[in-house]
Amino acid sequence: MLVWAVASQKGGVGKTTTVATLAGWLQREHLRVLVIDTDPHASLTSYLGFDEESVDFNLFDLYAADVITRELFLKCITKSQHQGLDIIPAAMTLATIDRQLSGRQGVGRILSKALALIDDCYDVVLIDCPPVLGALMVNALVASTTILVPTQTEFLALKGLQGMVRTFDIMSQADSNADFDYIIVPTMFDKRTRASNHSLSYMRTHYQSKVWGECIPIDTMFRESSAQRLPLPLMAPSARGAQAYYGLLTTLVAHELKHHPRKVSPALAAVLSSDEDGSAAALTHHSAEVVTQSVKNMFVPHTEGGY
Ligand SMILES: Nc1ncnc2c1ncn2[C@@H]1O[C@H](COP(=O)(O)OP(=O)(O)OP(=O)(O)O)[C@@H](O)[C@H]1O
Ligand SMILES: [Mg+2]
Repeated sequence: MLVWAVASQKGGVGKTTTVATLAGWLQREHLRVLVIDTDPHASLTSYLGFDEESVDFNLFDLYAADVITRELFLKCITKSQHQGLDIIPAAMTLATIDRQLSGRQGVGRILSKALALIDDCYDVVLIDCPPVLGALMVNALVASTTILVPTQTEFLALKGLQGMVRTFDIMSQADSNADFDYIIVPTMFDKRTRASNHSLSYMRTHYQSKVWGECIPIDTMFRESSAQRLPLPLMAPSARGAQAYYGLLTTLVAHELKHHPRKVSPALAAVLSSDEDGSAAALTHHSAEVVTQSVKNMFVPHTEGGY
């Protein structure tokens, strides 16, 4: 089971949109996907058609528990109307979580330990983070196999990116076992504007291979999709914004096959070889090799440490 936290200390850069759109594609590919909304504003929860009142359990119930069992975890999950796409909704009470958890030991590992209890239930878990560095974000980062850092292609957002990279450094120093593997995802790119082009080249110059090779374009269909409470791949899969996120998904799967092959389910690895309606990103020679090797690895008995 892979875990992708989508995080940035800057607000409005496309975090919730990234989670909803990747989850939409995974659902379309018939994979099992759990989204966890850790933002007290609950934007993702309402994007998927829920609100605090309409569900019995939410993420607060998980964090507030003295002991987290598999049964409790499963109770906090709500099924969406889309087969295979489940959610742990957020609630306003999450805003008090830093206060609630203060003084407890091992606060940063609550979510990663809890996710280990349901490791067999999903192909991918996607976590939407609030734009604030606190216990909710730290838990999401620690639990991740790969972290996505959406960064709007404009100058103010670059400051948020610097802050996020500094956070990874601080956290790595605090925990020498931690390995924060992240990918910067340029979002809301408008090729007609100088600001977009300049900030994209700044990102590529300063963060080099950490930046995804493509970018998510501006697409007004995302607003329509959240208004309709339907992820864009389920509403208009051929929209250019949706297509760009499919490209991101294939990059992520190839990345995980390389770095965490034992956490990639065979069903997810197959995403790389599918080319739905001829519209999905083509399988490159390189990724074909990676898939073959990694699927082989899944059947080789594990002898060394690591994943
Ligand atoms: N590629 C895009 N093109 C056009 N609009 C977009 C795009 N991505 C996101 N948006 C819009 O930008 C707004 C902010 O996006 P989103 O809510 O995903 O950001 P966020 O980082 O989660 O914000 P917050 O920090 O407030 O949680 C939304 O109205 C969304 O529909
Ligand atoms: Mg959000």
